[in-house]
Amino acid sequence: MKHNYKRIAGCLSLCGALAGLLLLPAMARAEAVPLEERLQLCAGCHNPDGNSIIPENPKLAGLDAKYLARQLKDFKSGDRTNEIMATIIPMVDESEFKALAQYFSEQKRSDGVTEKPDLAAQGKQIFDEGIIGSAVPACSGCHNEDGSGTNKYPRLNGQNPVYVKNQLMNFKNGIRTNDAKSVMRAVAKRMNDAEIEAVAEYIVTLKEAQ
Ligand code: HEC
Ligand code: HEC
Repeated sequence: MKHNYKRIAGCLSLCGALAGLLLLPAMARAEAVPLEERLQLCAGCHNPDGNSIIPENPKLAGLDAKYLARQLKDFKSGDRTNEIMATIIPMVDESEFKALAQYFSEQKRSDGVTEKPDLAAQGKQIFDEGIIGSAVPACSGCHNEDGSGTNKYPRLNGQNPVYVKNQLMNFKNGIRTNDAKSVMRAVAKRMNDAEIEAVAEYIVTLKEAQ
């Protein structure tokens, strides 16, 4: 009897600890809120109109709605990892993704400026022609000459250069792996750090053709 009691007591405390652990994610679970309210969360880092000014944060304005929704889904599932978005996305319910993506896709992308015009000029050549010696294809072949993208390839024009550089490094080092058929990983792994920096510096100067 005594033995049995100990086992039950042991189980009770263990079960208590387990229940506590299970409660944590349950408490953090997303609850859908209206778009207006949710946008306040995004605005702190991506600006109300999606034209983020913090260098590490991407401009979301004018990106294709399907691209945006899929990135949110990938952050949620862990197919795309980033420390900061990983703390934000658990608060957002999947049912909100479509409206958030639609909202940011309809905002006008702001122009950017470079502080390194010489570097940007080197980047232009890579963007327009690729790098023949190392079989890097022209970025313009997929992302358009003005970087405006298509419904298949994301918009790049005016994007924050630090963000662009980080993404190219992430593709190159296999940290970002949510590009279908490894398209961008194949491009970025053929580029050295200086080439990545140059092309990112050119991308910020791109303005959408009128
Ligand atoms: C605390 C700052 C912060 C907040 C709040 C935040 N984000 Fe982000 N977001 C980031 C950072 C940093 C990245 C870049 C991630 C990376 O480098 O991979 C990012 C990336 C993204 C991307 C990927 C864009 C691309 O071009 O691939 C999307 C989409 C996005 N955020 C949407 C949102 C939405 C929608 C909200 C509001 C629900 C939000 N974010 C709130 C910091 C934030
Ligand atoms: C064969 C087509 C193709 C070529 C060529 C290409 N890209 Fe991409 N790129 C893509 C696709 C597809 C994605 C979207 C990946 C995803 O779905 O997450 C992408 C995504 C990106 C992103 C991330 C955008 C964001 O908002 O997070 C950057 C930056 C980028 N490409 C830069 C470049 C640069 C610079 C070059 C040239 C050196 C280039 N790409 C060449 C197809 C291409």
